[in-house]
Amino acid sequence: MQTFRVAFLGAGRIGQMHLHNLRTIAGVQVQVVADTSLAAAAHGATIVAAPRHTDDISAAIADPEVDVVMICTPTGSHPELIRQAVLAGKPVWCEKPVALTMPAVQQLSDLVDQHQVPVMIGYMRRFDARYQRAKARLDAGELGRIERWHSQSIDASPPSLAFIKTSGGICIDMIIHDFDLATYFVGEIDTVYAQGTVVVDPGFIDAGDVDTIIVTVRFKNGAIGVITGGRRTAWGYDIRTEIVGSQERAYIALQSATPSNHDGDVSPVEAQTHTFGDAYHAELTYFFDCLRQGITPRPGIAEAGQSLQVAIAATQSLHTGRPVRVSDISA
Ligand SMILES: NC(=O)c1ccc[n+]([C@@H]2O[C@H](COP(=O)([O-])OP(=O)(O)OC[C@H]3O[C@@H](n4cnc5c(N)ncnc54)[C@H](O)[C@@H]3O)[C@@H](O)[C@H]2O)c1
Repeated sequence: MQTFRVAFLGAGRIGQMHLHNLRTIAGVQVQVVADTSLAAAAHGATIVAAPRHTDDISAAIADPEVDVVMICTPTGSHPELIRQAVLAGKPVWCEKPVALTMPAVQQLSDLVDQHQVPVMIGYMRRFDARYQRAKARLDAGELGRIERWHSQSIDASPPSLAFIKTSGGICIDMIIHDFDLATYFVGEIDTVYAQGTVVVDPGFIDAGDVDTIIVTVRFKNGAIGVITGGRRTAWGYDIRTEIVGSQERAYIALQSATPSNHDGDVSPVEAQTHTFGDAYHAELTYFFDCLRQGITPRPGIAEAGQSLQVAIAATQSLHTGRPVRVSDISA
């Protein structure tokens, strides 16, 4: 089996989780862990027994002993790091979201078209067996014509306010998972209308964000939906999705499987890993399988750009109090 040598960028909360997973994915050798914090890079390297760690990110990407670049850095840094890897001709797997702005997505999209280097953005829920079963039922026509989408994503507890300030806000950072799934399952979203509030932590006001949100969505095919997002529950990570068709519905409720804050603080990544542990593993296995088989992994830049466009429209709606057409958000 072909072995891929990886430069792994960003060994923070989610990066460490992925490093643990990489230990059990055959044909992958992490060659170097790079992080702007040398201590984080060193810790990351110990997780996966990588021979090198560094705080020189560009050198890690350019390393001649590296074939593939994996990115788990803060969202604002994704476009530049993807750009460097694509220019070096190295396939990329990058955590969601692809970027914070549509011009950045357009530039990356043009670059990838020009250089034909595979880039996959990590939307792990697509790889969760429960969502995959629902998608198979939908694709087989079992649900009939889709009429409504209801989904809810509530974290067990909020990330730090420092993280929130660089995250792009709740639509771009968090319920972008729901925008991605809604588009993947039902089709393109035409219009969004968002209302939000701060009920968990007044610090969200200083960060220019909300901690609780409801977004109504209208799909181009006539279906409508509602997406609820929140940054805290007392009872644990609460993920539910209902896809309602003319014949049947698919209902996925993952709340009961998560640890509860009643038993002590549950960090967001801890709760996500508990719920989507297999999905995080499956998405990376799929990425390397695609590289081995010469298949373009999904979602790529363009698909990830679609959900970002919806998230930016929802953010604009949140701040203006008006419905926003997704097509009005352009590069
Ligand atoms: N798919 C999911 O469920 C999921 C969950 C959590 C986070 N994420 C995404 O993963 C990314 C990272 O989130 P996190 O929670 O791990 O953040 P984090 O702040 O915990 O970790 C980020 C790490 O990157 C390092 N870093 C910062 N700038 C860098 C740069 N330019 N180059 C290299 N290293 C750099 C930091 O020192 C830190 O160690 C974000 O884009 C976030 O949206 C996805």
